[in-house]
Amino acid sequence: MSTRVLTSVVGGTAVRGGDARPDVNPSDTSDVVAVAEIGDAAVARAAVDAAAAAFGAWSRTTPWERSSVLDRAGTEVIARADELGDLLAREEGKTYPEARGEVVRAAQILKYFAGTVLQPHGLALDSVRPGIEVTVTREPVGVVSVITPWNFPIAIPAWKIAPALAFGNTVVFKPADLVPASAWELVDILNRAGLPPGALNLVLGRGSVVGPVLTSSPDVDAVTFTGSVDTGKGILHGSAATGTKVQLELGGKNPLVVTENADLAVAVECAMQGGFGSTGQRCTASSILVVTEGIHDRFVDAMTERMSRWKVGDARGEGVDMGPVVDPSQLAQDEDYLSVARAQGAHVIGGERVECAAPGHYLAPALAVGTSVGDRINAEEVFGPVMSVIRVSDYDEALVAANASTMNLSAGVVTTSLAEASHFKRHSKAGMVMVNLPTAGVDFHVPFGGRGESSHGPREQGTAAVEFFTTSKTAYTAPGTP
Ligand code: UN1
Repeated sequence: MSTRVLTSVVGGTAVRGGDARPDVNPSDTSDVVAVAEIGDAAVARAAVDAAAAAFGAWSRTTPWERSSVLDRAGTEVIARADELGDLLAREEGKTYPEARGEVVRAAQILKYFAGTVLQPHGLALDSVRPGIEVTVTREPVGVVSVITPWNFPIAIPAWKIAPALAFGNTVVFKPADLVPASAWELVDILNRAGLPPGALNLVLGRGSVVGPVLTSSPDVDAVTFTGSVDTGKGILHGSAATGTKVQLELGGKNPLVVTENADLAVAVECAMQGGFGSTGQRCTASSILVVTEGIHDRFVDAMTERMSRWKVGDARGEGVDMGPVVDPSQLAQDEDYLSVARAQGAHVIGGERVECAAPGHYLAPALAVGTSVGDRINAEEVFGPVMSVIRVSDYDEALVAANASTMNLSAGVVTTSLAEASHFKRHSKAGMVMVNLPTAGVDFHVPFGGRGESSHGPREQGTAAVEFFTTSKTAYTAPGTP
């Protein structure tokens, strides 16, 4: 069978040519999922031009027209969930159930924003001056650049593109290099669902080449980015010169506190799912386990036992708990952090390479025990199936350790004490707090985002999305007397 070729899509048309980049299956590196023809800065400029040209007409469509497109797209995504889930698992390496779940989530997001666009978003009120009327309306921002990471190849694009289109913006979408196929499918589905040419453009290309056009072009009105702290800070600095509206979702260094009041089985399950789900490759992953001494040894023993039964293998294999790491450089990064942790005195359980039938980037889940707040493994985002344990004397010390992070996206506490749970919800520095739940795994109809270095700009998702994807207008009218 010939290898599938993926291209950028500008103004509704495929852009052929450019360097060919293989889209490799991390579970079996001999399997090439597709070949992406990479666009250059000229392709990115053409995409911005197409989005700018399409903006006038798309921004004047009725809410019903925009809702219908998103609704139709959501229906197709759901109908093809098995196939798209298989593609996503094959290209990114999360397990098939996780990948299918992500596809369903993308469909739900499309449907949610199909509904949102029909909801009221304005205000009409009397002025403080007699006889004058005031309205506050929401208008689209303009051309939005959507730049997304590889770890959620369809859900993160959906949760940025759906609200952007719903509120009447046009989009230039640049997915991560490692996952062009899922991105291409989403764009294809939305375009066939009835978008006019140019409302949604796809740019496959290297961030260093196309990124400057997508973030600094005068025709780009807003940039929404999920990815690394360093790239995000670069975008933010650039926006100081251009005045472009920016929304950033960056790293997370997420603590899960386990106190001696926890149900041990719940604590182990929260840690396993939060730390090793999606191979630990999510910004909401639990990466630090802060454990009070009354439960520490029992918890570490139970984790060790559970980890020994955690099946690592082909993302599409039967009964597999965890797929491979996404690529060789991420694998090297995970192993480096484990070496650093050992050098700083940690005892590492697991974390060895795993041989499977096919050549892939397989790593056993790893737990670094005996670490301290200042250690590197507790300060930087690893982004792999790696967790560390900090032993503390009591809840008060646990809260201090949990709040030591600078990337405060998500934090969790496992406890049956209502007092501890309530106190933690109120005093955690994180943007999202979970009680007796993994730190990862969020709903699409409520705000998503962190504090500290983790997020910048208005929150994503749910009712919060209107803030970033629209700009408000306050209008005063003196109607006079009839
Ligand atoms: C989730 O935990 O369900 O890049 C979502 C990330 C986050 C999304 C996490 N922006 O991992």
